[in-house]
Amino acid sequence: MPAMPTAEERTRDRPILETTRLRLRRPEAGDIASIMAIAGDWDVARRLSRVPHPYGETDAQFFLETIVPTEWTWAITLRASGELIRMAGLTPQPAHDVAELGYYVARPHWGIGIATEAARAVVEYGFRAAGLARLTSGYFLDNPASGRVLRKLGFVEVGRTERHSLASGSTAPSVEMLLDAAPPGCHTGDR
Ligand SMILES: CC(C)(COP(=O)(O)OP(=O)(O)OC[C@H]1O[C@@H](n2cnc3c(N)ncnc32)[C@H](O)[C@@H]1OP(=O)(O)O)[C@@H](O)C(=O)NCCC(=O)NCCS
Repeated sequence: MPAMPTAEERTRDRPILETTRLRLRRPEAGDIASIMAIAGDWDVARRLSRVPHPYGETDAQFFLETIVPTEWTWAITLRASGELIRMAGLTPQPAHDVAELGYYVARPHWGIGIATEAARAVVEYGFRAAGLARLTSGYFLDNPASGRVLRKLGFVEVGRTERHSLASGSTAPSVEMLLDAAPPGCHTGDR
């Protein structure tokens, strides 16, 4: 029986993705200052599970050296200026065809559809190129904007639980969401 591919092998392919306003590329060492500025914002970190607070250079280096090589992670820049404004990624789950969608946007760029535009490109990559069958995601109950983003992408609520936030050091109620790949030949209006 062939050996199961490692996480590095599974996520090695990380093409540049382009949308109307955005360019998604592999995060790199030159991004450390931008990553620290965006992820270091308490209003961003407290809404995420895996981002510590305060967020230092060691944390950004851990992200680049440990997370980026083993997950489908993209740095999202504005096509017009090249400014890094966001991260998005798919974290492989134990089932080989399932991944968890995560994202954050720098605060000055909230509310203009950036999260939805970039996440849509990542979701399409996951289903069409990475061959995933199902995406999971979740958001803290007090973060309805993220729930709205996921619903615009077609995710549906499948339950409620508690998730831990590294930044706050505590758990909080969360909404669990799911999106299955459309069957071949089936077009969903919204995606
Ligand atoms: C959540 C987050 C990613 C949204 O990014 P964004 O670029 O502002 O999102 P978009 O503009 O694409 O869409 C936001 C949607 O939420 C809606 N929204 C905003 N505030 C809302 C609120 N309090 N209640 C309900 N909906 C809200 C917006 O109206 C918009 O929906 P619309 O297009 O139908 O009008 C961003 O706020 C962020 O990075 N937060 C910190 C990290 C985070 O929460 N990550 C997700 C973890 S699950």
